[in-house]
Amino acid sequence: VPRMSLTPHPVCLLCHLLLLLTALEIGVGAHSLCFDFAIKSWCRPGQPWCKAQGFMNTNLFLQYDSNSNMVKPVGLLGKKVNATSTCGELTQMLGEVGRNLWMLLLDIKPQIKTSGPSTLQAEMFCQHEAERCTGASWQFAINREQSLLFDVMNMTWTAINHEASKIKETWKKDRGLEKYFRKLSMGDCNHWLGEFSEHWEVMPEPT
Ligand SMILES: *[C@@H]1O[C@H](CO)[C@@H](O)[C@H](O)[C@H]1NC(C)=O
Ligand SMILES: *[C@@H]1O[C@H](CO)[C@@H](O)[C@H](O)[C@H]1NC(C)=O
Repeated sequence: VPRMSLTPHPVCLLCHLLLLLTALEIGVGAHSLCFDFAIKSWCRPGQPWCKAQGFMNTNLFLQYDSNSNMVKPVGLLGKKVNATSTCGELTQMLGEVGRNLWMLLLDIKPQIKTSGPSTLQAEMFCQHEAERCTGASWQFAINREQSLLFDVMNMTWTAINHEASKIKETWKKDRGLEKYFRKLSMGDCNHWLGEFSEHWEVMPEPT
């Protein structure tokens, strides 16, 4: 009969250590959520004027387009999110933000010169660490050129290129718009991030 050892096996110790480290990382690790909107001022019939993608910790997990007005889950996290009761709310938010961004694009269209349809890409980002919001921002590309950055944490607008400085002044003066972007990235985005993190934590990290 083999004698039972009272001291843990070294391999087991290693497992315990890894589990502990994983648990620590889950508790304090930073998580981020990002929604990428791509808006066209006009498009051919049957083509979506708004497409959106959602990324959790830089991993794509859902896609949306204005034609279907539906969320298409990608991967394991996407499936989990799709199955939650908040998925309808999320779809509604994506549709509403898409429509508002489209109206913003029409507003600035006279200021941007282009031959074809104008495009606006907007990236809403939020990050939290140990259940605290540590980052919230919006980044805008107009006609595929990085143009504006809005850091919601300190409410600071930055024009990345010269052409965007006029648009920056217009948007900066619009307190309602600032509040709207702030509510979305610090409020809604953070709320979802907290919820999706729970699903993320019970999932193996993709390699
Ligand atoms: C997503 O959810 C909808 C509604 O609950 C369901 O009909 C659909 O099959 C789900 N899609 C996937 C890929 O799980
Ligand atoms: C706002 O915060 C960002 C980092 O989040 C920093 O890079 C930027 O310099 C800050 N701007 C001001 C005016 O404090």
